[in-house]
Amino acid sequence: MSHHHQTQELQGAAFWENHYGQSQRVWSGKVNQVIENLVAPLTPGTSLDIGCGEGGDVLWLASRGWKATGLDISTTAVARAKEDAAKHGLDESQTQFIASDLKDWNPEQLFDLVTLSFFQAPFEFPRAEFLRKAARLVASGGHLLALSHASLPSFAQIPEHELPNFPSPEQELEALALDPAEWNILTAQTRERSITAPNGEPAVMDDSVVFVQRKG
Ligand SMILES: C[S@@+](CC[C@H](N)C(=O)[O-])C[C@H]1O[C@@H](n2cnc3c(N)ncnc32)[C@H](O)[C@@H]1O
Repeated sequence: MSHHHQTQELQGAAFWENHYGQSQRVWSGKVNQVIENLVAPLTPGTSLDIGCGEGGDVLWLASRGWKATGLDISTTAVARAKEDAAKHGLDESQTQFIASDLKDWNPEQLFDLVTLSFFQAPFEFPRAEFLRKAARLVASGGHLLALSHASLPSFAQIPEHELPNFPSPEQELEALALDPAEWNILTAQTRERSITAPNGEPAVMDDSVVFVQRKG
């Protein structure tokens, strides 16, 4: 993040408000390829995207017939997501956005699909607890998709001792600590994704993909 040097003191909600406050809204309309590939075959039901940011994935899910909820700790990001939903003509039966810390949010309903995409931060936070809470919000027969950066982009140059700690699929599963009597592991792998470097050259980066289903 280009503004990292200014924000290294900030953590949690303050970090994310600052992050969205400093960036322009970008509505690419493009969903992450991994999400598209894994979710497209599922029968639409209720979905929850945790750390939805400006809501691009939520709007994509709604366009595929999901009753899609997005949750994010940043009120700025959620306000932008709501604006985009209205712009795309989606009403509250199709998309809902909630500005809250997942830690403090305890819905009565469970969801047929729970996604966490790039729920990562340049500061320490209890990621494992968030993953386990996400799993508890999955309805029986429903799916959980945890997608995270597993490497820096191939163009990034960072000294080895400063490399951030990227979760591997194995570490994600260990953090989730799923009961095998209750869950099927459908995918736990690292996948390479094509991206474009700032200089316009093609580049790659690795995503860790964990896709599991609560038994029905
Ligand atoms: C790296 S961004 C990823 C955004 C989006 N999912 C994407 O794929 O582009 C992580 C998001 O998680 C949100 N977030 C961080 N901690 C959170 C928490 N405790 N509860 C809810 N959202 C949180 C941040 O505001 C941010 O939008």
